[in-house]
Amino acid sequence: MPNFEPVLSRNWSVADSHTLKVYESRGGYRSARKALTELDPDKVVTIVKDSELRGRGGAGFPCGMKWGFLPKDRKQTLMCINADESEPATFNNRILMEKDPHQLIEGIVLGCFATRATTAYLYIRFEYIHAFRVLEAAIAEARAAGHLGKNIYGSGFDLEIWVHRGAGAYICGEETGLIESLEGKRGWPRIKPPFPAVDGAFHHPTVVNNVETLCCVPHIIERGADWFKSIGTPKSYGPKLYCVSGHVNKQTCVELPLGVTCRELIDVHGGGVWKGRKAKAAVPGGISMGLLSASELDTPLDFESLRKPGCLGLGTAAVTVIDDHTPIIDYLYNTSRFFAHESCGQCTPCREGTGWMYKTIKRIKAGGGRIEDLDQMATFANNLGIMPGTTICGLADGAAWPVKNAIAKFRTELEAYIRANQNPAHAVKPIQTAIAQGRVVDLSALALSAGSVAALSSNDLLSDGSSHAR
Ligand SMILES: Cc1cc2nc3c(=O)[nH]c(=O)nc-3n(C[C@H](O)[C@H](O)[C@H](O)COP(=O)(O)O)c2cc1C
Ligand code: SF4
Repeated sequence: MPNFEPVLSRNWSVADSHTLKVYESRGGYRSARKALTELDPDKVVTIVKDSELRGRGGAGFPCGMKWGFLPKDRKQTLMCINADESEPATFNNRILMEKDPHQLIEGIVLGCFATRATTAYLYIRFEYIHAFRVLEAAIAEARAAGHLGKNIYGSGFDLEIWVHRGAGAYICGEETGLIESLEGKRGWPRIKPPFPAVDGAFHHPTVVNNVETLCCVPHIIERGADWFKSIGTPKSYGPKLYCVSGHVNKQTCVELPLGVTCRELIDVHGGGVWKGRKAKAAVPGGISMGLLSASELDTPLDFESLRKPGCLGLGTAAVTVIDDHTPIIDYLYNTSRFFAHESCGQCTPCREGTGWMYKTIKRIKAGGGRIEDLDQMATFANNLGIMPGTTICGLADGAAWPVKNAIAKFRTELEAYIRANQNPAHAVKPIQTAIAQGRVVDLSALALSAGSVAALSSNDLLSDGSSHAR
């Protein structure tokens, strides 16, 4: 990448990069001072809109447009900074907070000034204890130095940041699950609309932004929208922090222009596939985005290109490499177990579907698979999620994509696995056997349709005695 200058990670290798002294000595808080003393909030929104900065938290929604959705006549605005970062293999937010917390605080000051929010809640993943401590110290330093608090830089703008620790649930990264949790309730996503911009935390208009999204803002204010748009690919502008993990020689988090290929990330930045092996597949952006096969590794990792190989999107841009010694059934087993565990349970298709997919995959792995299981899972995965409109939030889409992609791209391997690993102990028993053994009620006696009974008999009953109920 000729002439690419990393900005988000520029301080990471500097000693004591987490301190205010180092941050200020490297030009830190210049953008915040400039915006608060020379620009009005709407101008900041316009600059961010012009940069076409898209959210880095997974959905890729344009940041300036989101800020523009706030009602004009609002009395109070809140900002929530999403630092829940629970997508497996994603760790760029953690490094941003641990290595350069003042960059994030400056981004928060700018985001809050632009949206006229005077209170910001930073919702941080429970396990990020070190990042939490670093942030608490950095916020105290920033407050003492007048970057936070009352009448910042004499501009008349006040801002307080409160750090709120989550309790360890993936679903609290979903913006409305996060808001519910922040309010002290169970982290159940809300039906939208109303969107948080209109009715968010404590019923106030609320902006939810990811850590990395806000870290881009000081650089956009300092260098301008055109600079930002000069990096990346058409429709996917700016620098991006890519995580690389799994079966690579070097697990890393590296800043590159949006649109780098998955192959470059693995071979150049990840040091190649470990143990001299080849890549069988790679997860492009967190497990909810699906799977790229080896022949698709030249796909650019940006907001547009991942649709072509059938993935959900860029997600968190966290690449996980799967080597050619790893059975795809193991990948499916781990992903489906994760989603079945993390589903919040509000929506029937997600609650039951993630559990059913996990059990079916577990049965296949144990040697009780049938070829038709693959068709049933693919059909089910295609009918699950926000995309077909059956669930409240996107967790269900994320649960479906690995299944859809793995069956479409690795069907031959999965069929061969099913044929080669038949274990009668785990085979599906006819429903009559299960009824006779007293393991399930006789559904036909409850006057259910023949179709329902047939579906249950073929999908659901495991010879190990587990039932469908969770
Ligand atoms: C199940 C689920 C989990 C999510 N987890 C996160 C997360 O950990 N961090 C994050 O920033 N966004 C997460 N999101 C996306 C958020 O809902 C939201 O789009 C994002 O925080 C908005 O910030 P951005 O526009 O700056 O990207 C998740 C979404 C879903 C459906
Ligand atoms: S889709 Fe799943 S995780 Fe999301 S609200 Fe519904 S049940 Fe909960």
